[in-house]
Amino acid sequence: LELQMNLEEIEKGGYDHFMLKEIYEQPRAIMDTYRGRLLADQGLIKMAGIDQHLEKFINANRIIIVACGTSWHAGLVAEYIFEDLARIPVEVEYASEFRYRNPVITEKDVLIAISQSGETADTLAAIKLAKEKGAFVFGVCNVVGSSISRETHAGAYTHAGPEIGVASTKAFTTQITVLTLLALKLAKEKGEFSASRFHEYLTELETIPAKVEKALEANPLVEIIADVYKDSTNCLYLGRGYNFPVALEGALKLKEISYIHAEGYPAAEMKHGPIALIDEQMPVIVIATKKGHYEKVVSNVQEIKSRKGKIIAVVTQGDTQVTQLADHVIEVPETFESLTPLLTTIPLQLLSYHIAVMRGCNVDQPRNLAKSVTVE
Ligand code: AGP
Repeated sequence: LELQMNLEEIEKGGYDHFMLKEIYEQPRAIMDTYRGRLLADQGLIKMAGIDQHLEKFINANRIIIVACGTSWHAGLVAEYIFEDLARIPVEVEYASEFRYRNPVITEKDVLIAISQSGETADTLAAIKLAKEKGAFVFGVCNVVGSSISRETHAGAYTHAGPEIGVASTKAFTTQITVLTLLALKLAKEKGEFSASRFHEYLTELETIPAKVEKALEANPLVEIIADVYKDSTNCLYLGRGYNFPVALEGALKLKEISYIHAEGYPAAEMKHGPIALIDEQMPVIVIATKKGHYEKVVSNVQEIKSRKGKIIAVVTQGDTQVTQLADHVIEVPETFESLTPLLTTIPLQLLSYHIAVMRGCNVDQPRNLAKSVTVE
């Protein structure tokens, strides 16, 4: 047992938990994921799995993204990116729903399956269904040689390295990285992007690892905030646009490792009911970065404040407006609107981690959960 314990300590690289190690590995994991694919100085994105099937994507009627859990949240971010940048219609489906609802699928459809483990039963079943109907199926997996990576017609691996913590962190950000490369490549091929705008994007994407490092520097502040809210029984996460999926992901992280009930919501939807939930006991995490409907989020924050809600705001470095209104402010560096999820998710991962540790939860193996849901 002693040896086993030592081996685990080595694998954790000095971190208390695999999850914390994997949160801190994200700068390198993102870099490893775009290395050899993102060639900014040549103004190129090279992805073998795409290059050989480019016309399938370019001529697709639509892209259907199927996934579960955190991978489904990465799919939502991809929907915003693909439609915004590549102008290709996208719909995102829970694999477990898609496979049973007798969906309309044709050979003009491209299905993208996102799965860290590459073994999720519902996602695998959705792939088989789409293949039967003649769709082209593309996989985004983290485990080489996994069932999903073998079942799909083509794919692109995230190079996040083994993700041991049950709560997915570096898989999420590297999935978004792969999907962003794909969307940018298609946008360029479709002529939606000028060479200069394309080059600008590639150059900004190369700054993300350093900006994730910067976002990680908020860890001590996040730990202090976690201590204030660790005994909450409910929590609300709000985001708009690209940060709406990040709000959903932040809520899932908190639920699955701290067992606090949490809900992610589009910020503007609050007035259609959920705002009735707000009281002094309810911490509300609002993602209020500069890019993307900032003024609207400011008014959402004011609505919450007038109902005495406690506000934890994730803002862009140097923010002044939301900072005046929120009870706690966590800064992330500025970047393009479509790249903000790679940064805004970092403080939310850290917040759920610290709250779970303070509650004495088993962070790496939360109760009732498995790393890969290989059964239906
Ligand atoms: C996320 O933190 C959970 N571990 C879970 O929702 C996970 O994302 C889901 O089971 C999908 O797993 P996959 O990416 O391996 O298919």
